[in-house]
Amino acid sequence: MEYYTLALLFLSIFTIILLSKLFSKSKQILPPGPKPWPIIGSILELGDKPHHAVAELSKKYGPIMSLKLGSKTIIVISSPEVAQEMFLKQDLAFSSRAVPHAGAAGNHDKFSMVWLPVGPKWRDLRKIATIQLFTSQTLDASQIIRQKKVNELIDYARQCGESGMPIDIGKAGFTTSLNLLSNTFFSMDLASHASSYSQEFKELFESLLEMGGKPNLSDFFPLVKYLDLQGVLRRTTFLVNKIMGIFEEVIDGRLKDPIDSVKDDVLGTLLKNVENNELDLDDVKHLLLDLFVAGTDTTSSTLEWAMTELLRNPKAMQKAQLEVEEVLGKHGPVQESDISKLPYLQAIVKETLRLHPPAPFLVPHKATKDVQLCNYFVPKNSTIWVNVWAIGRNSSVWTNPETFYPERFLENDIDVKGRDFELIPFGSGRRMCPGMPLANRMTNLMLVSLLHSFNWKCVHNETNLTELDVEEKFGLTLQKVEPLQAIPLLR
Ligand code: HEM
Repeated sequence: MEYYTLALLFLSIFTIILLSKLFSKSKQILPPGPKPWPIIGSILELGDKPHHAVAELSKKYGPIMSLKLGSKTIIVISSPEVAQEMFLKQDLAFSSRAVPHAGAAGNHDKFSMVWLPVGPKWRDLRKIATIQLFTSQTLDASQIIRQKKVNELIDYARQCGESGMPIDIGKAGFTTSLNLLSNTFFSMDLASHASSYSQEFKELFESLLEMGGKPNLSDFFPLVKYLDLQGVLRRTTFLVNKIMGIFEEVIDGRLKDPIDSVKDDVLGTLLKNVENNELDLDDVKHLLLDLFVAGTDTTSSTLEWAMTELLRNPKAMQKAQLEVEEVLGKHGPVQESDISKLPYLQAIVKETLRLHPPAPFLVPHKATKDVQLCNYFVPKNSTIWVNVWAIGRNSSVWTNPETFYPERFLENDIDVKGRDFELIPFGSGRRMCPGMPLANRMTNLMLVSLLHSFNWKCVHNETNLTELDVEEKFGLTLQKVEPLQAIPLLR
């Protein structure tokens, strides 16, 4: 009997050890992915459109996939279910950022809401953004000044149309976005539509955004980052310092002028936080840099893609114009407060963000610790790419995913607020875009104003507009390769 009990005990211990080994092994299994090449990993497989390349790979390896890029481990998420698991169940563990080497230019990563890890400083900045800068009340208070800037866009388009000149929608949208932001922030213009004397700020900004979109070896091989082989950090530092100098001038002017110093715009609010010792002037300058970088290209590219899709789909364009006319009459400026009365317009913007999300991988997250996600092991410090571009075109989620069909959003109540994981162009969870309320106003207002005032004649391929190209350029944001040119004809 004793032998029998002893044998049973040994057997049980052995089984427990075996099972726990097996279990801990399964816990260490990385998501599947392509076999990496020595040293470079799968870098060459990404090509110039990584969001397309990983979408293809995920068809083979599944909605959670791992990649080796140089010495970095990347986890790619390509389904709403895995995104939901990440953001709803493990948000904190994935809440850090994979900071690119250029993010350190001018020590920006030490101050930036975009790059700081979740911690006290980041929380303070987020709180100021959500409670003070981007509430409906503060945005309502500054809407007149944005309306004025959009009226200037319409005047510029009218002048072009009268002389039969096409306008470059992306460029005009970029200038307008820059001015919408600079007026919301400082109550002043920082750019002009007339390119012959386009200001220093606009050019600096364009260069900074271009630089931010360039692939950088230092991001994949941290061992060589101190050599800055492509000079990305050096050039970005130059641009950041120049832009900071401009912010400094604006702030100095504000502080010296007793009338200016009581202005109730974003800068006024931030300077009150400086007075209360909640922020210092460096925090203010870096926050302004974040807001300009995050808010310009994203909104102007959304406008350009929306206009491209509408030109390819004249029936949708006509339907949108009819809706505005029915609700607001034939003439007169549109206001931000009108947007809520225009469901088809809002559906067009959602459909544009589904097909052309400005940030196809969101702003890459980073795992703060070893994590289990959907039964796979995600090692600490892995970079996370949530491929919202692929999720937006997933045929198991969307009917006819490649078709531009805004009506789908009149038939469901899917929104972009981070709770419907099939459509998360602004992200979800803690790091979700804090500027979304302003972004929605800006994109909808620019688009509806262009549709209300003009009919549009495309200069690219008049005979077959459905063939109008939609080739994408991957960078800091997803841009159109061939800028959209169209002639505005007064309605
Ligand atoms: C972050 C999208 C406009 C400010 C983000 C993220 C996305 C995004 C995807 C990252 C979310 C994540 O990592 O989970 C967009 C889109 C826009 C837009 C599609 C326009 C169509 C704006 C505007 C502002 C802004 C107008 C402010 C003026 C920010 C900031 C962050 C951010 C500061 C960083 C938040 C953090 O890391 O805590 N945005 N954005 N964005 N966005 Fe936007």
